[in-house]
Amino acid sequence: MHSAPTALAPDWLAVPDDPDDLAAGVWPASAHRDADGALVIGGVPVGDLVRSHGTPLLVLDEGEVRRRAAALRDAFETAATAHGTSARIYYAGKAFLSTAVARWMVEEGLNVDVCTGGELQVALAASVDPAHIGFHGNNKSAAELESAVEVGVGTIIIDSSIEIERLAAITARTGTVQRVMLRVNSGVHAETHDFLATAHEDQKFGTPLADAAAMVARIRELSGLEFVGLHCHIGSQIFGVAGFRESASRVLDLHAELLEGGPVPQLNLGGGFGIAYTRADDPAPVAELAEGIVAAVAEGCAARGIDLPLLSFEPGRAIIGNAGVTLYEIGTIKDVVLENGSRRYLSVDGGMSDNARPALYGAQFSARLASRESDGEPVLSRVVGKHCESGDIVVDHEYLPADAAPGDLLAVPATGAYCAPLSSNYNHVPRPPIVAVRDGAARVIVRGETVADLLSRDVGITEPDSDALHPQTSEGER
Ligand code: LLP
Repeated sequence: MHSAPTALAPDWLAVPDDPDDLAAGVWPASAHRDADGALVIGGVPVGDLVRSHGTPLLVLDEGEVRRRAAALRDAFETAATAHGTSARIYYAGKAFLSTAVARWMVEEGLNVDVCTGGELQVALAASVDPAHIGFHGNNKSAAELESAVEVGVGTIIIDSSIEIERLAAITARTGTVQRVMLRVNSGVHAETHDFLATAHEDQKFGTPLADAAAMVARIRELSGLEFVGLHCHIGSQIFGVAGFRESASRVLDLHAELLEGGPVPQLNLGGGFGIAYTRADDPAPVAELAEGIVAAVAEGCAARGIDLPLLSFEPGRAIIGNAGVTLYEIGTIKDVVLENGSRRYLSVDGGMSDNARPALYGAQFSARLASRESDGEPVLSRVVGKHCESGDIVVDHEYLPADAAPGDLLAVPATGAYCAPLSSNYNHVPRPPIVAVRDGAARVIVRGETVADLLSRDVGITEPDSDALHPQTSEGER
């Protein structure tokens, strides 16, 4: 069964031969259908998960997270060793952070990167060794820096001159020596499938390469700060190594210059490795990526006659993105007939409050019926949420079986990164629970919000003023 593509479908979306299949690399490796055609993740049938936890539900495959973390760690360590250095991986907690996930990272031998005082508190609550934490951010407050220094955060990545002086004052008071890196803006800004380099990047992060030497000289004057190297992050959801190569080459010129004034033992090239959201995305295998980037740094060092520094990287999405699957229940369905074809709208019981990425970035996702298989003909569909906003799209373009019906479960893969962290209570929709699955067992790692949670900050409700809450309405006024 094969329907013709409609003019409304984008070029990258092929009509599937089998609208029940689970594209490799997009779904967790454990995802499969059982004898009844229902989806199973981490050994747990989705029907069981939904019976216990309802929908929407974010399911995180713990085995997939750990496997991807270990694969990145091994790939960069292998590549670094082959070139005579070593590599560290910091998990970028902004992609998704909870105490459970922070512990998995530590158990897999990773460090943790945080970018706010709040993320730092989660890592500390998970008992991550502060020495294995890197602290980022373009506007770290004095209070945030002070608590980071006090608990012994391993590396603080300085983003501006103001932070140098803030840290100098704190370390002078506490009598500690804080290891720091300086984040530079290499002028390379890499986007998915599109690589563009500009000399003057117009964005808020880091310090221009031209200003960095003077800032490092200032850091080196301060007895409370120990300069360990440069940091550079060029963007997110990047495919290929071209952007990393170009950025490394520019940063190494500065790195070599700084070696004339003192040691520069490390270099952090950030994160940003792209993942497959749909079968049209084709990220490079991690071993290829690691070897390509490390080889570029090694060549750059050899060309400049300098030693290869200890390397670090900060992937977030590449570790957790494909481990997440969001389960929804289909509520309503309508067909919208347009001049050049028709599009089916399937409304689910969540939306932009649990996945803001389509609305924020025009991000593409995919979807499959989860509660059963179907022989229905593939129909061009758009999965939308329940929010009062027309941009409330979960999956912009997907072929779903014609017989998809209210009450069916729908699964959206690759929602592990930047969905829960960007979630909101828009329209007073409670945030869904997050359940980890592994080897046939499921456990809640972040509980879902309740109506009581939704009302808990509303002072007018906790101290009710009955006149204000229940105004008298006369007949016909409603
Ligand atoms: N390191 C630094 C300094 C970063 O700023 C970021 C991401 C990362 C590492 C991790 O990047 P990743 O490997 O996860 O791509 N909300 C957006 C992504 C924002 C990324 C911000 N920085 C999204 O949903 O696509």
